[in-house]
Amino acid sequence: VPVSRIRNFSIIAHIDHGKSTLADRMLQDTGTVAQRQMKEQFLDNMDLERERGITIKLQAARMNYTAKDGQNYVLNLIDTPGHVDFSYEVSRSLAACEGALLVVDSSQGVEAQTLANVYLALENDLEIIPVLNKIDLPGAECDRVAQEIEDVVGLDCSDIIQASAKIGLGIDDILESIVQKVPPPADTVDRPLRALIFDSYYDAYRGVVVYFRVMDGKVKRGDNVRLMASGKEYVIDELGILSPTQVEVEELHAGEVGYFAAAIKAVEDARVGDTITLVDEPAPEPLPGYTEAKPMVFCGLFPTDSDQYPDLRDALDKLKLNDAALSYEPETSSAMGFGFRCGFLGLLHMEIVQERLEREYDLELITTAPSVIYRVTTIDGEVMEIDNPSLLPDPQQREKIEEPFIKVEIITPENYVGTLMDLCQTRRGIFKDMKYFTQNRTCLIYELPLAEVVTDFFDQMKSRTKGYASMEYQMLGYRKDHLVKLDILVNKDPVDALSTIVHRDKAYYVGRALTEKLKELIPRHQFKVPIQAAIGAKIIASEHIPALRKDVLAKCYGGDISRKKKLLQKQAKGKKRMKSIGTVDVPQEAFMAVLKIG
Ligand code: GTP
Repeated sequence: VPVSRIRNFSIIAHIDHGKSTLADRMLQDTGTVAQRQMKEQFLDNMDLERERGITIKLQAARMNYTAKDGQNYVLNLIDTPGHVDFSYEVSRSLAACEGALLVVDSSQGVEAQTLANVYLALENDLEIIPVLNKIDLPGAECDRVAQEIEDVVGLDCSDIIQASAKIGLGIDDILESIVQKVPPPADTVDRPLRALIFDSYYDAYRGVVVYFRVMDGKVKRGDNVRLMASGKEYVIDELGILSPTQVEVEELHAGEVGYFAAAIKAVEDARVGDTITLVDEPAPEPLPGYTEAKPMVFCGLFPTDSDQYPDLRDALDKLKLNDAALSYEPETSSAMGFGFRCGFLGLLHMEIVQERLEREYDLELITTAPSVIYRVTTIDGEVMEIDNPSLLPDPQQREKIEEPFIKVEIITPENYVGTLMDLCQTRRGIFKDMKYFTQNRTCLIYELPLAEVVTDFFDQMKSRTKGYASMEYQMLGYRKDHLVKLDILVNKDPVDALSTIVHRDKAYYVGRALTEKLKELIPRHQFKVPIQAAIGAKIIASEHIPALRKDVLAKCYGGDISRKKKLLQKQAKGKKRMKSIGTVDVPQEAFMAVLKIG
């Protein structure tokens, strides 16, 4: 089809507002996927995604649609991940589009994530089409939510589309308005090739499969291409479209969306946001907006059984092939032995990787509490980036410590404003602004240290507001503060994996709370186990775990054997994931204890 009949769009929606259901409907109604072929939710095809009900990886689908004007159009839907950890990927997939559907649950309303993505879409100059979804629900309040979208987002909602993705209402209106309102791509086929990578995944047979949008020029199979950021060159072995399964084609032109394979060894060689051009006729400038996704949150991963260390390394190597944002390097801990220090985009990304390591690679791991990157200036003027609290230089060596700050936007019903302000305050938040949209939508803006948010901030926000608040954050930069390293000694030995960096004013409180918590979590041993918190050489809190008085079996000496067995079984059941530190067994929960201390 001519470029004037191509429409590239994505769907912006808060989690659970119905993005995947709507995408599936559109694929069905345009005959892209026959009903019987339809696996539930075609676009979310990673198991983990389906289980958690969130979209992690984005993909694309090409649909053919005959509009009311009788013409055939190609509609390319580019999916976006629905979580703040992946907002860079969202911005790149939006950059590959001319328009976006803004899908809002008509029984809910505008959420923080929706707003954040709308801003990204506006930055990319996209035409935004608002859609009210779930109008079949008895609780749907179309007028109120339409008004809210007008007030909060500033879009004209006088002729807003009312839809139900579930029962298939309004789908035609949506398809038609994409044709009418989303502008066609610019016809720049005569320029040198520039194509934007918006996603990629690793395939064991073909190497990395790259999803891209041709912005200028054209590309065909056999072309010799260069990735402008990485500088690497490849020959395209396979080129195609996503309909939504991969179908090979000979050539793709400006405005089109497709995939290619070129024996690329790992996704980090073809990163999201990079520009593809031709080696023989290169574009003078890459497309704007490329940055390398940078890990923000770090933790140590250690096998409970040190024999599993090589397996852990292999598993990380394999995951890395498909995850450019994951970083890891060997770490040796005096307490934990050999493991890896791993970096993630955010907490969700961290949880996903941990879960995959345990589930898909059958590893039993101990994870240490997440940390951010601190910037330390030494007295010699050297600037160090520290992602592991145990590596913090001694106070005599330090000139200053800086930590990353973020701007957090929380959208909440008005009656939870008090408890949320309280939460932000205890996390060293700096109040910036409060905007009142409607009774159900008050927007709180705070600046907070990232370290205070990567702990259980999100969980706290959800539980304090019964799940009604939503949040979004963005990086502000580094700020100096009075930070100290808090060490934990178990049985008089410092346990490096339990060290944390805390604010000076909170150190005593955290030290006391942490030693109390560890006393609960670490099981009793045959001997008394002292637990201490220290700043430098100074002990600031101390507890001890009393010795076991008797062995469990002691009671049954002389007793019958079956009773003894039963007791042993009971003990085995209660066996937890433990790491032996010196002579003390420390359970996994202990390493996370610091997260539960506000
Ligand atoms: P993420 O993939 O996490 O971003 O969620 P999503 O926005 O894709 O939501 P999804 O399509 O998975 O829908 C969430 C839930 O809402 C599912 O249980 C759907 O069945 C339901 N749902 C979606 N659309 C409608 C609708 O129009 N009406 C009703 N009643 N339920 C709907």
